[in-house]
Amino acid sequence: MSMIGDTNLNLSFTKSEEHTLMVRGYTIEKRIGEGSYAKVFLCKKIMNNKFIFLACKVIDTKNAPVDYVNKFLPRELNVLMKIGHPNIIHVDFIFQRKVKYYMFMRYAETGDLLDYLMTRGRVSENRARFWIAQCALALTYLHGINIVHRDIKCENILITESLNLKLCDFGFSRVITPEGYSSTYCGSIAYTAPEVLKGRPYQPKKSDVWSVGVVLFVMLNRKLPYPESSPKKVLENQLARSLSHNPKVEEQMSPDLKLAFNKLLEPDVRSRYSAADFLNCDWIKTDPRYKQDDKIKIIQTTSGYSVNSSLIKKAKERASKGVSDITVLRPQRPEMSILSILGTSNMEQDPKQEETKEKILQKARQQKMRRSQPVR
Ligand SMILES: Nc1ncnc2c1ncn2[C@@H]1O[C@H](COP(=O)(O)OP(=O)(O)OP(=O)(O)O)[C@@H](O)[C@H]1O
Ligand SMILES: [Mg+2]
Repeated sequence: MSMIGDTNLNLSFTKSEEHTLMVRGYTIEKRIGEGSYAKVFLCKKIMNNKFIFLACKVIDTKNAPVDYVNKFLPRELNVLMKIGHPNIIHVDFIFQRKVKYYMFMRYAETGDLLDYLMTRGRVSENRARFWIAQCALALTYLHGINIVHRDIKCENILITESLNLKLCDFGFSRVITPEGYSSTYCGSIAYTAPEVLKGRPYQPKKSDVWSVGVVLFVMLNRKLPYPESSPKKVLENQLARSLSHNPKVEEQMSPDLKLAFNKLLEPDVRSRYSAADFLNCDWIKTDPRYKQDDKIKIIQTTSGYSVNSSLIKKAKERASKGVSDITVLRPQRPEMSILSILGTSNMEQDPKQEETKEKILQKARQQKMRRSQPVR
């Protein structure tokens, strides 16, 4: 039975909205997440007389600031349209109806990483290595096409049924010039790099890597490395490199992991790993799945990425033997065309936009932080 419009569940879908979704074969089941201007639902789609489950992020622009609607939402959708990677949530279909956008994407059955850690506790070094490497693979891909995420944190990392990791929520992402700088403060304080907290223009690729270091710390310790609420205090501790691991974790931590932490949560941007450096570090290579030299070979084209056909063949061969050390990247489906809906491809950096955006992002960030569960 469809639960669309079920007031008991407070799904707030109108009858006509229900009809619009029904004719496209979608029925909403329950709410699974909530954001600043979005709610995320589990939904069913009928395909060839079978049901498949999808997640649907419904973005309601009614109460959102005009600039968010006209500039930042299109930017998120444009980025989503450009990307396709096994460790990034796959967006199937996006459409707009009146003031709402409906983003249908792969449903991550195990939920987000924060929920996972809160309910099941911290993870082993091996599990953390496997997951953080998947995160670094996604980031290496994004940075390779000059897209920065700028909001990497446990809530924005999803886990599938087979315990693979998918990066989501491109609300703060943007396309940059190859060596581009950002000046906008993005993300949650706890995950934010020192150079961003200092309020100076920063290299957003390196700041993404810092956030990956924080995620790794949280996976292993089930607490934040810099839990203070004041940015000043957080910055002081970051610069002092004062990391206090759970004593049990610290006791068992391999020397390679300690080295990796030093290079991820490195306050000096020049000495900090890039995402690709991190993938090549000794700690990651301890896992035989990431040891192969040929694990990621990407050929860049002007329209994004294409794949090397011999590599696909090799990946298939290795997958048939149960080895998954080759990542094949596919562009998103060509029929997914949000540009035609939005009529914009506003990607360039404009200082005025940056200024307005800063105010909006500050507000969104505050809202996000208010609803974020504390990690302790
Ligand atoms: N594909 C999915 N499968 C399972 N759960 C999901 C999926 N997408 C999102 N969620 C859940 O919904 C939450 C909110 O989604 P998301 O992060 O995309 O929105 P958001 O934080 O509101 O983003 P923004 O406000 O920046 O647009 C996630 O933290 C996660 O718990
Ligand atoms: Mg989010």
